[in-house]
Amino acid sequence: MRVGELDFGPGIYLAPMEAVTDLPFRTICEELGASLTFTEFLSADALTRGAAKAVKRMWPSREGRRFAVQIFGREATVLARAAEMAVEVGASVLDINMGCPAKKVTAGVCGSALMREPALAARLVAAVRAAIPSKIPVTVKHRAGWDDSCVNAPEFAQRLVDAGAALITVHGRTRAQGFSGSVRLPPIAGVRAVLPATIPVIGNGDVKTVEDYQRMKRETGCDGVMIGRGAMGNPWLFRSLQALERGEADPGPPTLAERQTVWRRHADLVFEHAVEKMRLHELRKTMAWYSRGLRGGAELRQRSFTQNDPQTLVDLGEAFFDRLQNVAQGPEGAALALSVPADPVAKSIARQERRSGGHVEADEGCAA
Ligand SMILES: Cc1cc2nc3c(=O)[nH]c(=O)nc-3n(C[C@H](O)[C@H](O)[C@H](O)COP(=O)(O)O)c2cc1C
Repeated sequence: MRVGELDFGPGIYLAPMEAVTDLPFRTICEELGASLTFTEFLSADALTRGAAKAVKRMWPSREGRRFAVQIFGREATVLARAAEMAVEVGASVLDINMGCPAKKVTAGVCGSALMREPALAARLVAAVRAAIPSKIPVTVKHRAGWDDSCVNAPEFAQRLVDAGAALITVHGRTRAQGFSGSVRLPPIAGVRAVLPATIPVIGNGDVKTVEDYQRMKRETGCDGVMIGRGAMGNPWLFRSLQALERGEADPGPPTLAERQTVWRRHADLVFEHAVEKMRLHELRKTMAWYSRGLRGGAELRQRSFTQNDPQTLVDLGEAFFDRLQNVAQGPEGAALALSVPADPVAKSIARQERRSGGHVEADEGCAA
């Protein structure tokens, strides 16, 4: 898939996710086949004020791999300056968030609230487009619409493209849906239908399996797919999808040994990149993700909360995986190492819904 001058292969992207898509997780996904990863959304205001926390999160991908920085805001000059900063740190793609449903964002009339102000949204795209070199594509991620009375993704996307957007990602839920219900594919198909073929459309929402990916592509005609929650604890989904696109057999879920290796790699990256006060939290998160669905995983997660030394935590994880591999080599084989898989993303969804106010009620009509 071409975006401006850049080629992103089959276009299998890791979605931007606040407090999730840090450099360690992005690196794991890139190494397992994500065509491009995005930083979490960063406030253009905070970036231009020089807020260290925001600036630091514009982590360039390792080994010179391309990456996207996502920003949000509603002041053209501020967004334009933030975009310049992203380019200065090496971003290959500049993405503008027009999909966030969180009240703290929409109250400032940013994120998905811009879907009710298409003229302003288009001005923001034009300002960012004018501010950065033409070889860096400006892209936008938005929702299906604001609420059921305003599913305006196709018209909205068209205005953004007229203003200079080179790629559109559509999360097929309305803002009022928050993260609840199911993704709707017709608005994504609608965006694909109205935009020129030269502008890639990325479908997003509820892709957790190879079958979900195939359905998203088949039913929307989208050019690429963005995966968020489905990659948390299962970065091997990218490996399966890349194999599918190459016409090869699906390598399937990881073996225990692969799981342990990737978990250890993730933990090493946390040691390398996480600030000290977040290290324990991030390590516990990796242990929870990679032990999910495995026998003794719940106990491991509980025990991880009783340890306050990072190295002891890692030793605990190593012992857990070593023990499981011994069990799996026993007479009853790998099935013994598995327990009932838990909902992989329930906690993160719950957290995101708390932030966005859950089933968000729209408070105004559609301004579009
Ligand atoms: C924990 C969490 C944080 C998120 N943060 C962002 C963000 O920073 N920027 C953004 O555009 N979308 C964000 N999203 C939305 C996702 O990018 C994606 O659109 C949504 O989760 C639907 O895709 P999925 O079903 O593959 O997860 C977030 C979602 C979650 C669950």
